[in-house]
Amino acid sequence: MAGEHLMPTYARQAVAFAHGEGAWLTDTDGKRYLDAMAGIAVCNLGHAHPAVTRAIQQQAATLLHTSNVYRIPLQEEAADALCAVSGMEKVFFGNSGAEANEAAIKLARLYGHGKGVDLPTIIVMEGAFHGRTMATLTATGNRKIQAGFEPLVSGFVRAPYNDLDAVRQIARNNRDIVAVLVEPVQGEGGVIVPADDYLAGLRTICDDNGWLLMLDEIQTGNGRMGTYFAYQQCGVMPDVVTTAKGLGNGVPVGACLAQGVAAGIFAPGNHGSTFGGNPLACATALAVIRALCNDGVMARVPALSQRILDGFRAAFADEPGVAVVRGKGLMIGIELDRPCGALVTRAREAGLLINVTAEKVIRLLPPLVFTDADADLLVAKLAALVREFLAEPATA
Ligand SMILES: Cc1ncc(COP(=O)(O)O)c(C=O)c1O
Repeated sequence: MAGEHLMPTYARQAVAFAHGEGAWLTDTDGKRYLDAMAGIAVCNLGHAHPAVTRAIQQQAATLLHTSNVYRIPLQEEAADALCAVSGMEKVFFGNSGAEANEAAIKLARLYGHGKGVDLPTIIVMEGAFHGRTMATLTATGNRKIQAGFEPLVSGFVRAPYNDLDAVRQIARNNRDIVAVLVEPVQGEGGVIVPADDYLAGLRTICDDNGWLLMLDEIQTGNGRMGTYFAYQQCGVMPDVVTTAKGLGNGVPVGACLAQGVAAGIFAPGNHGSTFGGNPLACATALAVIRALCNDGVMARVPALSQRILDGFRAAFADEPGVAVVRGKGLMIGIELDRPCGALVTRAREAGLLINVTAEKVIRLLPPLVFTDADADLLVAKLAALVREFLAEPATA
């Protein structure tokens, strides 16, 4: 049986894709699908983006890997480019989102010990998702992801998301806090968009208490919000920001960025990665950053986002089974009044790739290269499927 030697960590759908172009994927039987998931917010530039493909091909034919024990000019260039688009100062490259967050967590702990805090503790949020390594699944605010993997890692306390008073209260009661780790919009948690002043409020609390503000922009970053990072719309500078997913448009690369006091914490020997920031990853990241910034791709995001949100709001205006349509940039959630995982298969059969998270939330993460016609097709097809689904008697 195909796949019998894979550990069954995923309940995989019965489809495999042969190739892709832009926002469209073709399966091994030749059927085409509109991809409103982008590999879970990875292929922000769409599939087979010409400049990214060219960069990968050229680099693969030149030099894949050396080692971080040598200088890697492409890594230096990629760090320059990331700092130029973000206003940050230093970059550590890894291979995934979880690793980027691990770097941030280690950095916060070193920062805390440097201040004389023996048990440095990081505030993390209910509903958060930060990855599947031991520290990042502990930071994740979802018991399903943690259950069975105890003992969890110590050094985290949890606050409700979008609740500044709760964080202030922790500040009054816990002298071990050294940092806050938070997503600007929660993705896996159900596309939860906080109040406009939430990040600025956290920045103030962090400043008042000498904590690091660490933003997990693994899903929100790389243009998905219409700016390179989400914080750039809030007048806030984090001390640390993590990214991955869209940074390589499908080639595994992640990064932990730091500025100010946080930029001076890691010293030789504190952290490392064999593959992190190798020439292939960095040539790809450079091509991605340039394509996102130069081709007006990010500039289209607000109008595209509004078009999709308006389309669904109009389609569901008199549909009581739709609790809310919400989103920011190209992270869009449609929350139903019932679990709706079954819609993933129905949408796929209808030639549409979507995701359901937090049981009742349809999550849409279209690539930034979606055309207006793609957006209208997404709304028309999905709205019809949702209405049909809601018209059926609810199953227990
Ligand atoms: C906000 C956020 N943080 C971290 C991660 C983990 O990234 P990775 O799967 O690359 O380890 C994800 C992945 O979905 C994410 O959405």
